[in-house]
Amino acid sequence: MRVSGSSADDGTDSDERLHAVETALTKSKRYSGLAPATVRRVARRALVSSGGDVPDAVKRTKRGLHEIYGAYLPGGAPPYRGILRKLEEAVAEGTGATTSGGADEHTREVLVGAMRTHASTRERLPSLERFYREIFDRVPAPATVRDLACGLNPLAVPWMSLPTSTVYRASDIDAPQMAFLDRVLDLLGVRHETAVADLLDDPVSAPADVTLLLKTVPCLEKQRAGAGWDLLDAVNSPTLVVTFPTKSLGRRSKGMFQTHSAAFEQFAAERPWRVESFETDNELVYLVRR
Ligand SMILES: C[S@@+](CC[C@H](N)C(=O)[O-])C[C@H]1O[C@@H](n2cnc3c(N)ncnc32)[C@H](O)[C@@H]1O
Repeated sequence: MRVSGSSADDGTDSDERLHAVETALTKSKRYSGLAPATVRRVARRALVSSGGDVPDAVKRTKRGLHEIYGAYLPGGAPPYRGILRKLEEAVAEGTGATTSGGADEHTREVLVGAMRTHASTRERLPSLERFYREIFDRVPAPATVRDLACGLNPLAVPWMSLPTSTVYRASDIDAPQMAFLDRVLDLLGVRHETAVADLLDDPVSAPADVTLLLKTVPCLEKQRAGAGWDLLDAVNSPTLVVTFPTKSLGRRSKGMFQTHSAAFEQFAAERPWRVESFETDNELVYLVRR
């Protein structure tokens, strides 16, 4: 549906096409819950690539959103209601907690099941205990933790051994996912704030003691060259945890370790940062103090 007529190239016409693509996306089961800013940015670029052809731009927008979001949820949206029901039961039967989100075995089993639905947390599960022990053993107990582009990682709060006073601030581009996480953190008794936020659109200026930016720099770089790296400078935190995947979603390693470690270490070398690192089977972790 190429809009024809004498106004084909003026601003009003391109606004209409953008609106048409955005409207089509609001009808998509998979993408209707995403931050409007994200859809708009991807749609704008898709319209340019498609030469203004709206149906083609709709397809390209869906492909673009798949790449930065959908690919991590291969089974579609997790069954949030069912998970919440199981979690409510587990928490009701539970034995109480001395750390933030401290959870008994049954509650942890429900959380692990939920974390399996998102590729990023699923890949982290085999080393979850060690992952958070290595990080939080090395930093003073934080009053605030910020988890940017969090995916389902806030479900791992019981593995972080945070004080009950810690406020956990999580954000991502998926509104139903953030509503789900808000409810989960309520149930776990974690002090928290959740927000739908696009990191290319919403500046991250509020301070936090620890900021987690897990496996997200490459995803932001796909959306705008420099966006992931700029964010590392912009984040207002004395401690920053930045990680990179070392295996692709298809599990085949493609020299990802070399690429990401070389890029990060060059970036860090140009800054007055103290950096420690460790590696799990599929993730390279940098703990930055500044
Ligand atoms: C590789 S996953 C990492 C998820 C989580 N940090 C983890 O490691 O478990 C990338 C995440 O970035 C989110 N994302 C993609 N583009 C984004 C953007 N522009 N702003 C904020 N989040 C974004 C996706 O929804 C997805 O949850």
